[in-house]
Amino acid sequence: MTATTAPLLAPTTESIAAAAAALRAGSLVAFPTETVYGLGADATDDRAVAAIFAAKDRPSFNPLIIHLADQAAAEALVEMDARARILATHFWPGPLTLVLPRREACPVSLLASAGLDTLAVRVPRHPVAARLLKAFGRPIAAPSANPSGRLSPTTAAHVAEGLGHRVAMILDDGPTAIGLESTVIDLSGPDARLLRPGGLTAEEIEAVIGPLAGVEAGLGAAIAPRSPGMLESHYAPALPLRLEAFSVEADEALLAFGPQVPPGARKTLNLSPAGDVTQAAANLFAFLRRLDASGARRIAVMGVPEQGLGRAINDRLRRAAAPRPAFPD
Ligand code: TXA
Ligand code: MG
Repeated sequence: MTATTAPLLAPTTESIAAAAAALRAGSLVAFPTETVYGLGADATDDRAVAAIFAAKDRPSFNPLIIHLADQAAAEALVEMDARARILATHFWPGPLTLVLPRREACPVSLLASAGLDTLAVRVPRHPVAARLLKAFGRPIAAPSANPSGRLSPTTAAHVAEGLGHRVAMILDDGPTAIGLESTVIDLSGPDARLLRPGGLTAEEIEAVIGPLAGVEAGLGAAIAPRSPGMLESHYAPALPLRLEAFSVEADEALLAFGPQVPPGARKTLNLSPAGDVTQAAANLFAFLRRLDASGARRIAVMGVPEQGLGRAINDRLRRAAAPRPAFPD
């Protein structure tokens, strides 16, 4: 085992073919999606999937998202009902993950779904993810490419920093457009349920299939047993967070939002001076990392409106502020 860091490769026909070959050989490859960078492995290869858990230091009962080239590939793995097909038609490729019953003959490693009889599937929109999936020709299991309990990576440099010595290569296509993980919807029961707010808003989904369960309950709601990803603390910087800050102390760093920023912080980064939640989402993880490294005692965080992507941002912030769990994901 060497401590060398994997190469960051620009996406070309050759580098994508090399990434597909690495996946076939059972290695891990980091690749961009429109949400965050993923840590990919051949989803049908138990050892490769286990390598994901090992690399992330993640508890193995935490299930992974299975990335697919198109809806037909999803139909082969899971039972898609009418609701699933409508959502797929509207939002795939895109930042939407659907939890559905596994088919009997589903070839995906059981370890990837942590032994559950459901599977989380998504068709990413990012062209590099799409080309890799096509070149590989099989499902790719991929959690966010960060060590367990750390922030999700929105650049290849973030991946290299946390997991560079655990992957064969990192396909580098610059910062991700959305910057928040995909929205996870559970369709395995009678009610469509929001398990994780993310890059696609609950409002957009509700406009297509009607009310979602779990939306008002929202943040930190007691649905943890159904989705281990809902464990309280997940996106954790090293420094403590103080939420809903209106003023700031001299030894605090400030994660600001909007045009009116209180003065006096040791370091301030503004998620969106214009108050745009989409811009704020794209900046969130990178800014938290920078403030985490600022030498401050604590990070004060201004409020973000609880609307659209603001809901997902607040969800991540509240989890980052929560007490650290025994089993972060
Ligand atoms: O944007 C994203 O979703 C990124 C990119 C790489 O696609 N992936 C990602 O994966 O965030 P990960 O593993 O960090 O988060 C997967 C989430 C977790 O909250 C997990 O608990 C939930 O999906 N999940 C996966 N399979 C599930 C299942 N069968 N039932 C319920 N929740 C599931
Ligand atoms: Mg993650």
